[in-house]
Amino acid sequence: MAEILSPSETSFAKVSEALAFGDVVALPTETVYGLAAIVGDDAALKKIFGVKGRPLFDPLIVHVLGLSSLLELVEVSQDVFSKLQVLTGAFCPGPLTFVLRKKKSVSDIITAGKKTVAVRIPAHPVFREVLRRAGPLAAPSANPFGYVSPTRAEHVQQSLGDKIKYILDGGSCSVGVESTILDLSSQKLAILRPGAVTAEMITDVLGEPVTPYKTIATTDPSAPGMLTRHYSPRTRLRLFQNPGELKALLKQNQGSRVAIVCCTRSEMEHFSRAIVLENSVQLKQQFFCLSETGDLVEIASHVFDCLQKLDAMSLDSIFVQTPPK
Ligand code: TXA
Ligand code: MG
Repeated sequence: MAEILSPSETSFAKVSEALAFGDVVALPTETVYGLAAIVGDDAALKKIFGVKGRPLFDPLIVHVLGLSSLLELVEVSQDVFSKLQVLTGAFCPGPLTFVLRKKKSVSDIITAGKKTVAVRIPAHPVFREVLRRAGPLAAPSANPFGYVSPTRAEHVQQSLGDKIKYILDGGSCSVGVESTILDLSSQKLAILRPGAVTAEMITDVLGEPVTPYKTIATTDPSAPGMLTRHYSPRTRLRLFQNPGELKALLKQNQGSRVAIVCCTRSEMEHFSRAIVLENSVQLKQQFFCLSETGDLVEIASHVFDCLQKLDAMSLDSIFVQTPPK
């Protein structure tokens, strides 16, 4: 199994040395844990795909310390440069990734042969310390391809611990879902993946429209990250919106072990009362809630953690209340 290291001088030295020797290591970011390799080492980059079981057509995100190191990887016009200055000033370091035209020097393994590269400036102090020592790092989320993302060191240990040497423990991720991806490579700005930084927040600082994220469920590999199966627990998961739908799900699954996840504590109480009133339903379910108040940021920060926990409980099904948009 991997060694879980607490941040210390010795740990940083061990991890940087492993990276320099072409290993991949798991590191904490403020969004989710990443599986990192040095950008200039194609053999190490290929290892990331091997460890995750990730297809080579799915490109990686490069992590850098700041705008000046970002600019070493990309070709930008004066206009895009000005936008980057505003955006990095407002949101970086933080959970925002930029897709930009790449320089020739950026490996095709990182970009899956595309002419663009995704780059972000992470905020987590532990990740930043490794960047200072090792230089830019490519890092996808540290989970097997298609599976729920990891927001704690133990999540990485459970799913990839037998395939890597080190996991640097930076506690639980404060954002808890992947970074927003913003495409700056074409005329029209567009969100390619939703995250903590929203289209409205970007429009507010840039003063121009941003096409919000559109769900296009697909099996087309040319639309990376939009595959039909993504962030998926191994346990069967179904969504419900109201007590009627939840009751129907429970009826279809009588006698099985299920967990019911609600968005807020008060909704959890509301749904559990509705079910208890219905005596015909066998009570083998447990309730969980993602937030006390319904704050979307809090819901997002708990969702993967909750799914990881429930997936380890050998349940038959997980029923999740559809969160607000
Ligand atoms: O929060 C995050 O961004 C995390 C942490 C570890 O930093 N990383 C992450 O990486 O989510 P990953 O590999 O799980 O997601 C990378 C996704 C790809 O699946 C693809 O959707 C998008 O980023 N992507 C990468 N390069 C791209 C490009 N050139 N054009 C369009 N999309 C790209
Ligand atoms: Mg991922």
